[in-house]
Amino acid sequence: MNVKELKHDEINTEHKSDKLLVEKVFTFGQGHVFKWWNELAASERGVLLNQLKLIDYDLLQSLIDKHVKESRLASPKTATLKPPGIIPVPQNDLQKTRASEAKEIGEGAIKAGKASVVTVAGGLGTRLGANRPKGTLPISPIMGKSIFQLHAEKILANMKRYDTVIPWYIMTSRNNDEMTRKFFEENHFFGLNTRDVSFFTQGVLPVIDFNGKLLMDSKSNIVTSPNGHGGTLSALREKGILSNMKERGIKHIFYHQVDNVLIKIVDPIYLGYHISEGAKMSPKVVQKTNPEEKVGIIGIRDGHLDTIEYSELGDEEKQALNPDGTLKFGMGSPAIYLLDVDFVEKINEGNITLPYHEAVKKVPCIGEDGNKVNPVENNAVKFEMFIFDALKHAGKSIIMEVVREDEFSPIKNEKGESSPDTARQNMINLFGRWLREAGIEIPKDENGNVEGVIEISPLYALNAEELKNKVNKDIAFNGELNLQ
Ligand code: UTP
Repeated sequence: MNVKELKHDEINTEHKSDKLLVEKVFTFGQGHVFKWWNELAASERGVLLNQLKLIDYDLLQSLIDKHVKESRLASPKTATLKPPGIIPVPQNDLQKTRASEAKEIGEGAIKAGKASVVTVAGGLGTRLGANRPKGTLPISPIMGKSIFQLHAEKILANMKRYDTVIPWYIMTSRNNDEMTRKFFEENHFFGLNTRDVSFFTQGVLPVIDFNGKLLMDSKSNIVTSPNGHGGTLSALREKGILSNMKERGIKHIFYHQVDNVLIKIVDPIYLGYHISEGAKMSPKVVQKTNPEEKVGIIGIRDGHLDTIEYSELGDEEKQALNPDGTLKFGMGSPAIYLLDVDFVEKINEGNITLPYHEAVKKVPCIGEDGNKVNPVENNAVKFEMFIFDALKHAGKSIIMEVVREDEFSPIKNEKGESSPDTARQNMINLFGRWLREAGIEIPKDENGNVEGVIEISPLYALNAEELKNKVNKDIAFNGELNLQ
């Protein structure tokens, strides 16, 4: 049975401030959230009011006006698009010499304690559907170490290698913050010092329906969603992380997404190029596998470095080739960036606000009758900021190409492409290549995958070079190798 919506003077509240809040909610056309007010217990009313207090109504209204009422106009066509200049994967002697010069500069900064790591782990992981923070997923091929443990061991290994401290800042969201912290506590921070690991939560925004109304998933609960990885930049300041970095003398941030199991978490060559060019925000790029690969690319759009989403590229641009046959707009973004602390500060202090992008999704909610609805069609709009929208404000950037198979294997889906299975296989294949470089024979199957299973802990070796110096070259691979 449908319940009649209440008027604002029918909502009884104890405090004057709550009354004002109720009026505000009605003024912004969201009074339907009080429909079940008379059925709610005092504690549930408290929960609802607390959520309503946290909403920035002016922002919400501007998003509704822009994205819903303007009937979602098509995004403006790109005026000009050019490929950016990149630092290629070193092939010749000159490029190799440059890379080793950059490495020295980067290593100097890391040893001097100027580098930190920011891992964004606030997403909901809807496609994976694992019902746990993605970072807690057991993933390493033999030991079943979690993604977080692999990242932690990489940081620990770099700290040992450079005899320094590399603070780690992990961005969570309201949905997974508690579980993430608990996971670290239960695992004794994987050997890291607790003072060098910090968690900070990003902002959330309400989710609305196609009429611009707040969605609810119970009679006292408003549906919210994290405000996107672009929310990192404001959260870094609001949650005191930038101050903490400055107190520690940190100048540079290695930024990456939690779900990339191959991430080279600290990369001195990348940092060296970034520093020597005076860059402020620098992306890594990987070659697109084919013109239709659904990945954003890095390009110069209307005179600014930018990320161009797959949907924004025209067919002609997707297919365009360089004289050597590679894709003209083929520099895919693996969402790996170096950011300078003073740049993040400038973004926060200046009048720069990252735009919100809308995502139309299926979101469980309650219907007019208060019963649960599990929609089969899209029913909701979420709003997210994207970190790459900061690129155009950087002024100076370097763009470094890396080999995808060495550095990028994200976990997005439960099965198939970009899944735990592909991530594990890509790790095994990478370790196989390192072992081959050390002179150990590792067989491949017809798809080029290692025949067998290999795990190399970051604490044993962080790359092919370290492995070569350490491993017993007389090992005969019998299908399983576990180096911890
Ligand atoms: P994705 O956009 O792939 O989202 O985020 P997701 O949450 O992992 O998965 P889906 O889309 O719900 O299936 C890429 C990275 O950015 C982080 C995620 O945690 C992931 O590391 N992220 C995303 C945030 O930290 N906050 C957000 O609001 C969104």
